[in-house]
Amino acid sequence: MRIAAFLSALALGFTAFGVQAQTTEPIVIKFSHVVAPNTPKGRAADEFKKLAEARTNGRVKVEVYPNSQLYKDREEIEALQLGAVQILAPSLSKFGPLGVRAFELFDLPYIFPNKETLYRVMDGDVGKRLFAMLEPRGIIGLAYWDNGFKQMSANRPLRRVEDFKGLKMRIQSSKVLEAQMKALGANPQVMAFSEVYSALQQGVVDGTENPMSNLFTQKMHEVQKHLTISDHGYLGYAVIVNKKFWDGLPADIRAILDKAMVDATEFERRIAQQENDDSLAAVRRAGTTEIYVLPYRDRLVWHKALLPVHKEFEDKIGRDFIQAAYNVAAAVEREKSAQPGSPAPKERPGATR
Ligand code: LMR
Repeated sequence: MRIAAFLSALALGFTAFGVQAQTTEPIVIKFSHVVAPNTPKGRAADEFKKLAEARTNGRVKVEVYPNSQLYKDREEIEALQLGAVQILAPSLSKFGPLGVRAFELFDLPYIFPNKETLYRVMDGDVGKRLFAMLEPRGIIGLAYWDNGFKQMSANRPLRRVEDFKGLKMRIQSSKVLEAQMKALGANPQVMAFSEVYSALQQGVVDGTENPMSNLFTQKMHEVQKHLTISDHGYLGYAVIVNKKFWDGLPADIRAILDKAMVDATEFERRIAQQENDDSLAAVRRAGTTEIYVLPYRDRLVWHKALLPVHKEFEDKIGRDFIQAAYNVAAAVEREKSAQPGSPAPKERPGATR
């Protein structure tokens, strides 16, 4: 009888001395991603880990696996659906293979003239509707994370649209990015992020596009002689979680994790631009790559060449989504120019920070 009481006390988490014992293993969350730890996404994943573990008093353990250590691009979403990993933050350009091409809205060249427009689209109705499309696939969207506007690189100068002719350009698995490169006269090649550096080094591809933080932390500048600051497109992330896992968490734990994600997201958006600015400065210092800032008049030329891509994808992405982005951009522009002493709006085309 006494033994039975002792055993049941143990099961309740108490030792014979009345001290609470650790009877349950922590809930382990594997968070896998493909970039370096010292990038906007990498740092925010670590921030989420820190907040989640501290606020749950160790009831949750977050294991962050950066740099495609665990899974590459294509495999990671499958692994999430199978429950082999719990959280990912793939770029918004990588949801097509999952059958949700509408995310490629974010890939449309020059669609976001500034970050304000982008955040309003992500955080508004469009962002919510996109996340709803993931649920039937067993995935919940937790947050949109930022990286930044993309720049073009190659081993030849990329100044005029003609300069892209015949270049093999690495892209992410997005039909919009494929169309974008074709509109410039280049040959797009889909490739996992982890393979880009060696593909550039070996000449399997000639060039690529990415925000500076990715270009620098993957050392792509060491194998790219020319870089054009074009801000022609955007790269951001959807933080996603396996639905069954998330729904199965104790409600109190889930609430803490939700809040940790909100705070990690705020952190992420605060540091993203700085990370990219610092990376640009670092590439400048490295002296490996000639940096060319595309002048406004040439952005107009690139814009003209790329705009047909918006029309081409109206059906696949949804005309209402594209129109919503245009409307938000126009509203932001109106608000900015209504501010006393504001300079004349000169934001379209091309992103401003
Ligand atoms: C890429 O594949 O170029 C990016 O999506 C990598 C990333 O996650 O930022």
